[in-house]
Amino acid sequence: DKGTYPFFMLKEIDEQPAVIRRLVSTYLGERDDYRFDPQLIAKMAEADQIYIVAAGTSYHAGLAAKQIVEEVAKMPVAVELASEFGYHLPILSKRPFFVFLSQSGETADSRQVLVKMKELGYPSLTITNVDRSTLSREADFTVLLNAGPEIAVASTKAYTAQITVMALLAKALGQKLGTDDGKIDLRSELSLAANAMQTIVDNKEAIEGYAKEFFETTPKAFYIGRGQDYFASLEAALKLKEISYIQAEGFAAGELKHGTISLIENGTPVIALITDQATAGLTRGNIKEVEARGAKTLKIVSENLAESADQLVLPAIASVLSPLLTVIPAQLLAYYATIQRGYNVDQPRNLAKSVTVE
Ligand code: M6R
Repeated sequence: DKGTYPFFMLKEIDEQPAVIRRLVSTYLGERDDYRFDPQLIAKMAEADQIYIVAAGTSYHAGLAAKQIVEEVAKMPVAVELASEFGYHLPILSKRPFFVFLSQSGETADSRQVLVKMKELGYPSLTITNVDRSTLSREADFTVLLNAGPEIAVASTKAYTAQITVMALLAKALGQKLGTDDGKIDLRSELSLAANAMQTIVDNKEAIEGYAKEFFETTPKAFYIGRGQDYFASLEAALKLKEISYIQAEGFAAGELKHGTISLIENGTPVIALITDQATAGLTRGNIKEVEARGAKTLKIVSENLAESADQLVLPAIASVLSPLLTVIPAQLLAYYATIQRGYNVDQPRNLAKSVTVE
């Protein structure tokens, strides 16, 4: 039921702060005890590498999750596209552990990998929004996203829920292995993130205005960033192209000059995400480069790195968790651009909610 919302997508965008809070109360106990199956954490701790296998938005959540797991639990993570991985297996580590990220739990591309990895005897976990879905039944372990049904084809709350669950798992794993240096207080960071998300969704009008200014007529657009901002850029671009049909690309900011900058024309929208202190200056340099070639730039920046001309300033959270926040304006920009261009937000052409063919 959409309630008073015109589209499921907007409802699902708005639900994200509540989803984060629910995940914290589900999986993080009062005494900083993580409420996951102890056998799951023990199995993960035996591994020498985690392989995250997924498609689409879930793959993008996996890219963000890799950085979190490596920073918190110090375990190496590989992130793989399900449709590629199953047919072109890389040389695996000695003791791999497989994590299947899938909102629906029904994605055929991911399932064929799970079937093959089970045959090889490797342990597996499915992180899904749908209890007793195919991937959940077939993996050794399941962790639920508890995000409530996601109806819009464009995935929103599943992305932030997947990153949150992976962060909670990373903490549990780090605790078990003794590798977590405690630099990230996840309870307080996730509470900050949920509050900050709420502030962004409460101030949608500004973003609606930017959608009009940047996307109303353009045939193409770029999102750029570095590190987590690059991975969030990939998701931001997918959201935009999937529903508004604007040809959008997420790009590593430093790579532009190696080719793609030739696509910048007068008025081409370039949206830059800046949440990482280490690379903020470099990305700002890239913004200047595209502006010099006529690009129209929109800067989405965390508070601690903001400058006066930046249009969208987000509260600062631990930078490894930044995709939780930067994705929200990107989801809203895609939503409003789609409405302004006159398309159906919830049911984009040529797409199904769950993709059950390879
Ligand atoms: O159900 P899954 O998470 O396995 O689905 C994977 C992709 O098909 C899905 O994320 C798709 O990319 C979305 N439409 C993106 O918004």
